[in-house]
Amino acid sequence: MKNYIKADEWNIIEEGFDPHLNKISESIFSLGNGRMGQRANFEETYTGETLLGNYVAGVYYPDKTRVGWWKNGYPEYFAKVLNAANWVGIEVKIDDEILDLATAEVSDFKRVLNMQAGYLERTFSARLKSGKTLKVKSTRFCSIADDEVGAICYSITPLNFEGKLTLMPFIDGDVKNQDSNYDEKFWDKVTDEISGTEAYIKLRTKKTEFEVCTGSNIELYKNGEKLDFNPEAVRKEKFVGQTFSVDVKANEEITLVKIAANLSSENYPKEALLKDTKSVIAKASAKGFDTLLKEQSDAWAAKWEESDIIIEGDVSAQQAIRFNIFQLFQTYTGKDDRLNIGPKGFTGEKYGGSTYWDTEAYCVPFYLATAPQEVSKNLLVYRHKQLGKAIENAEKLGFKHGAALYPMVTMNGEECHNEWEITFEEIHRNGAIAFAIFNYIRYTGDESYLSDFGLEVLIGIARFWKQRVNWSNDKQQYVMLGVTGPNEYENNVNNNWYTNILATWCLKYATEAAEIVKTQQPEKYNHLLKSLNFDQQEFTDWADIIEKMYYPQDEKLGIFLQQDGYLDKEQILVKDLPASERPINQKWSWDRILRSCFIKQADVLQGLYFFEEDYDLDTLKRNFDFYEPRTVHESSLSPCVHSILAAKLNDEARAYEFYLRTARLDLDDYNNDTEDGLHITSMAGTWMSVVEGFAGMRVRDGKLHFNPFLPDKWKSFSFTIGFRGATLKINITENSINIKNNAGVDLEIGVRNQFFNLAGNAEINVNNAALV
Ligand code: BGC
Repeated sequence: MKNYIKADEWNIIEEGFDPHLNKISESIFSLGNGRMGQRANFEETYTGETLLGNYVAGVYYPDKTRVGWWKNGYPEYFAKVLNAANWVGIEVKIDDEILDLATAEVSDFKRVLNMQAGYLERTFSARLKSGKTLKVKSTRFCSIADDEVGAICYSITPLNFEGKLTLMPFIDGDVKNQDSNYDEKFWDKVTDEISGTEAYIKLRTKKTEFEVCTGSNIELYKNGEKLDFNPEAVRKEKFVGQTFSVDVKANEEITLVKIAANLSSENYPKEALLKDTKSVIAKASAKGFDTLLKEQSDAWAAKWEESDIIIEGDVSAQQAIRFNIFQLFQTYTGKDDRLNIGPKGFTGEKYGGSTYWDTEAYCVPFYLATAPQEVSKNLLVYRHKQLGKAIENAEKLGFKHGAALYPMVTMNGEECHNEWEITFEEIHRNGAIAFAIFNYIRYTGDESYLSDFGLEVLIGIARFWKQRVNWSNDKQQYVMLGVTGPNEYENNVNNNWYTNILATWCLKYATEAAEIVKTQQPEKYNHLLKSLNFDQQEFTDWADIIEKMYYPQDEKLGIFLQQDGYLDKEQILVKDLPASERPINQKWSWDRILRSCFIKQADVLQGLYFFEEDYDLDTLKRNFDFYEPRTVHESSLSPCVHSILAAKLNDEARAYEFYLRTARLDLDDYNNDTEDGLHITSMAGTWMSVVEGFAGMRVRDGKLHFNPFLPDKWKSFSFTIGFRGATLKINITENSINIKNNAGVDLEIGVRNQFFNLAGNAEINVNNAALV
């Protein structure tokens, strides 16, 4: 746990340069715009510890799987989001000395991530070995207004010398992934071009043959006056740059503006990439840095208008929640249904940047409420597009007749996870994909999604569950053997309660969805069922499983059992584990973890969260009180679910405690792993803790409900959401809840089970006391 980020409502601030924290800060101060992103690597040379990271969405490399004992059904490769060309580089030389913060004496170092306007600013002074001292200010951003464009404004002021300043802005494609399995480089050069102030390099990925053209144009200023200059081309292996020198005196400010663009063959024909990159650069250069920055801050202002959470009375909580929202929007903007949300977004290599069940279980609720409907719909359509691959994936494992098993980890729909206990067994991910369809329709009311895309996916998933269960003669019930639940600290268990209820829920929901489409769109329905070779008997088979499924439980304790035999384990509580033995995934052998009762993340409780309407509060309480004390929360996805459930149980103190564990997870490097990248998907969980936890927001029967409480430390909190055409601002204080409807749509809203009419452009104010 670290505590070096200064509290501020809108900015993330680091003061002073500590090389030991540099990789952590590179993650925290990352920039992105949904289409590309980068870690906060320095523009100038840095020979200290760093993880170079520039990423282009949708461009990946199938790194050959490395595994000790090959098992049939394993995927051949693990897809990796590639470290792409570094376009931020600017080498700075004063006479013959290179500016390098690893060797210079650094003072007044300050890094600020301005979340309100979406840019990163860095200022410092550096004293070189020669004693020459200079001041630097750099401002840069990845534009969300034009997501192929990024820009840097880099100013240098000599403080105590006059001399020759030589700059070399460059684009370096000779990069590799730190997590490359065979230490290979993944890019080949196709072509390059350097002409005057412009430089371009087009690279192609090995095997996948994606092409990305990265270009830049530079401008030079002295004390704000534009200079004419004739840079000299620098060309190396997969590297293009320009170099030039300027004579400078003390206190003269030299500014280099670098406007860059990244275009990929995912969006342009390969042969046109260079030409199109040139036009994007020309257009952005014509606007100039200041206009691009203004467009950026306007675009961010519009995003905040739809999604901000304001916390009064706790600056550190305010900073944290905005940081989470900011990073989520930097990662995914929802414009492209081929893209998704990697657990580390554009901030690091871990997890390969691919799609996990995190998207459906955690991120969809966030985007549903804070972005136009299209955004969460695109996340769903992404899976619809990959249905064919999910069917192929299931076929590889021996399933048939259109059964679909979505991958645990994927880039293009193919599975790339290769630990058998997860690849083959952590099949609950399939259910989360069905649940997201339900959640989307519950929130938006857009039932047409079912006939257009959803039903086909639900049938594929239902067919999988039908074949995955088996009839137990002994129990005279259906069972599901050999699975891994969300709690990955158990493998190959029988009858994981969560997976079993999820499977039957999927069968029920697929049946209901079919009924809806049949009634609303009979022609489409008949056409779809025919194309899927659907036999009506399938409904009967599903109904049989729904009726006769086995769910493990313990009558005496009145709890659902995480899996068969869970109570045979030695029952120890996390509070009795010595701190020196935690986290157990770093301190214990895998064998010991598997035999222990300790739970990595919500498992039974994940089910009680998804299907809360099916269980009463006493049942929730018994299960919560039993499982939470056995949970080590060693996945960042864990605390948020517990926070929401604790809030539901009116345990406000614990709801807040769990919230704190995710809210500043990365800002305070809580788990000592922020240097690998940020926990992007769990950030959505933090948002859920506030909105579903503290504000108790739910959608039932097409209506919004709130059941709020105010954490003790806060004076009030408010948040903005979009709901069925309305834009609502909800403000919660100790005594009241105020809901403003900023659109012309009338709504009926529930507050603690009482209903209120909220007309368009009106507001309601409900006094807490009146309701209790
Ligand atoms: C969690 C999974 C999650 C993955 C990616 C793992 O540690 O156990 O539930 O999908 O991280 O975030």
